Amino acid sequence: MEGLDNETGRSKLRISVIGCGYVGLVTGTCLAEAGHQVVCTDNDPQRIAALKAGVVPIYEPHLDAMLAANHRAGKLSFTSDAAEAVRAGEAIFICVGTPPLENGDADLSAIDSVAHLIANEACDSKLVVEKSTVPAQTGQQLKRVLGVYRRNSSVELRVASNPEFLREGTAVEDFLHPDRIVFGVEDEASERQLREIYRPILDRRYRCPVHPSSCPATQLPMLVVTTINSAELIKHASNSFLAMKISYANMIGDLCEKVGADIREVTRAIGLDPRIGPRFLDAGLGFGGFCLPKDVQAFIRLAERSGVDFGMLKEAERVNRRRIDLFFDKIRQALWVVKDKQVGVLGLAFKANTDDIRFAPSLEVIRRLLAEGAQVRAYDQEAMDKTAEKFPQVQYCREPYEVASNADALLILTEWPEFRSLDWVRIHGMMSRPLIIDGRNLLAPSAMAELGFEYYSFGRPMESFDLQLVPPSIPNAFAASASA
Ligand code: UGA
Repeated sequence: MEGLDNETGRSKLRISVIGCGYVGLVTGTCLAEAGHQVVCTDNDPQRIAALKAGVVPIYEPHLDAMLAANHRAGKLSFTSDAAEAVRAGEAIFICVGTPPLENGDADLSAIDSVAHLIANEACDSKLVVEKSTVPAQTGQQLKRVLGVYRRNSSVELRVASNPEFLREGTAVEDFLHPDRIVFGVEDEASERQLREIYRPILDRRYRCPVHPSSCPATQLPMLVVTTINSAELIKHASNSFLAMKISYANMIGDLCEKVGADIREVTRAIGLDPRIGPRFLDAGLGFGGFCLPKDVQAFIRLAERSGVDFGMLKEAERVNRRRIDLFFDKIRQALWVVKDKQVGVLGLAFKANTDDIRFAPSLEVIRRLLAEGAQVRAYDQEAMDKTAEKFPQVQYCREPYEVASNADALLILTEWPEFRSLDWVRIHGMMSRPLIIDGRNLLAPSAMAELGFEYYSFGRPMESFDLQLVPPSIPNAFAASASA
């Protein structure tokens, strides 16, 4: 039953969100912010208890304040009773995890059990929205399970796919300011209902907590309505393309090292071609996180099962796995013997602005350092607690300078922008040997050389300048390096 939001006068729908990971929490909170009545549930009762007490279990900019405000306003609630949550919603967003199985396939058992739950508990008609990332044709299976196990045959359970394109670290902003929203639907009623749910975001009519004064003047989101199969494929194809783009940039970076070119110069110029675009061309340690690596694997498996040889995707994955080997070669070349060296690590999260370390390159680098007998100290703004659970033998520091003290080498493993503005003169004075191996091309080689550091990164000669210091109008590298 639709109601009207008192504040905005807009349609207010009852929405249930199953799964309180980052996708579920961001989705639930943003839909409440957009004016709907949202209840979230999760099979981890401790997580629900924490959320009820106002503790957000992940670090995601803007999420905690928004969640607290909507919780206080009564628009967002949490329950560990999943059946109650299912009964409450006119639309149910499935946001459970689909982690990789050993063979690379996505584990869909959580989706299956939510489908059984919905089939059992639904007393009135519902739109079941697949938000979790799933291989194509999962929606068809979902429909089948809902149909077969439905308790009440007069209850209509419609299925739609609504893939998410949220990046950890900017997920709230991505939800409220998406470039596109995809509805995979097979009937008009589902499309109408999804349009109603997303209307405030499609029309950008909500109070934006990310940009309190005014939002950047970007275009309104594009709405793309497709079949369910296409929507599912769009998600995997998007993440896989991003992964291939990163691996491509990494291969160009390796080539730059061999021929004495500079990856930043090359990717900047190729990225100016609108057909290519400038983003996701940063060379370095490669892609990690819980999305790109697993989605690439699942997409490869889907292609295999469908009889399509997606060799280029397998290659992108292989290139990515090799990044850690190449990084370790750099460490070994610089340090010679790793054993007993004091190694400082700056950055643990799989990327900046998150505390997530799942499939983070840092984990494998640290594992190898420890295996070779190095003493490791580490600092990360957000991800130290989670890393300490995996590597208690690492010494975790309260601030980045502590990591540098008496270090034989400093490794940069996450692109936290704050690392750029550290007092590098101070750091130079603290280290046993002023050696930096930058896995994220965060610092400017020429500036580091000027400060007296031995500095290595990916795809850039020692004397290369930092493009970020160069105004876009400077037309050539000679002018830039003269002014750098
Ligand atoms: C990714 C996608 O970008 C989102 O669009 C998608 O919604 C999400 O997965 C998901 O499926 O839920 P995310 O995992 O948050 O988002 O991370 P990305 O920003 O894509 O970064 C992934 C990895 O690639 C990070 O380790 C990052 O450091 C690395 N990366 C990124 C590079 O090595 N080079 C680049 O140029 C960009």
